[in-house]
Amino acid sequence: MPMSNEKSSKLPKVLIPEVKLQSRVAELAQEINHDYKGKEVTAICILKGSFIFFSDIIRQIDLPLVCEFLGVSSYGNKMVSSGEVKITLDIHEPLEKKHVIIFEDIVDSGLTLSYITSSLKTRKPASLKTCSLLMKPDCLKTDIDIDYLGFKIGNEFAVGYGIDFAGKHRELPYIGYLEHGH
Ligand code: IMP
Ligand code: MG
Repeated sequence: MPMSNEKSSKLPKVLIPEVKLQSRVAELAQEINHDYKGKEVTAICILKGSFIFFSDIIRQIDLPLVCEFLGVSSYGNKMVSSGEVKITLDIHEPLEKKHVIIFEDIVDSGLTLSYITSSLKTRKPASLKTCSLLMKPDCLKTDIDIDYLGFKIGNEFAVGYGIDFAGKHRELPYIGYLEHGH
């Protein structure tokens, strides 16, 4: 069904089109399939922003897989990271001796992913790697390893493909951007 004019006239501008996203997601899945051959993977979806990326990538991972969901909140309704990370939904299954991959939507200052990795390390997984669809290299404030990265972007505020601004725009099939001060 065509979008109503009311909706299409207010859509965020395209930063990464749907086809480019889909082909990069397929490449990341292939890398993971190759690196974890013969192993079972525990894939952790960081809610809420990673839910679409996670759903797309796990369906292309051709390995024994257990999916877990970790809810974190760091932004409230603002465009700048508060630096405070709240766990809104925890994982209750043990991660000990598991090969864990964390799937994140976007790394900005790096504070969220660094908090998540150090907190999951205390659960003694056999291995712990990170996969982020997007990162903003100019905004990093911590030394962080992203083992699988989709795209580096500038310091635009990204939305779409699961990523929101104040709860909106998650449903867009592409990554768009909002001007600062929106
Ligand atoms: P960090 O702690 O500054 O790295 O921020 C990471 C979290 O903030 C991500 O998991 C996102 O949920 C959110 N975030 C960072 N940058 C953006 C953005 O450009 N658009 C929407 N959310 C963002
Ligand atoms: Mg997030």
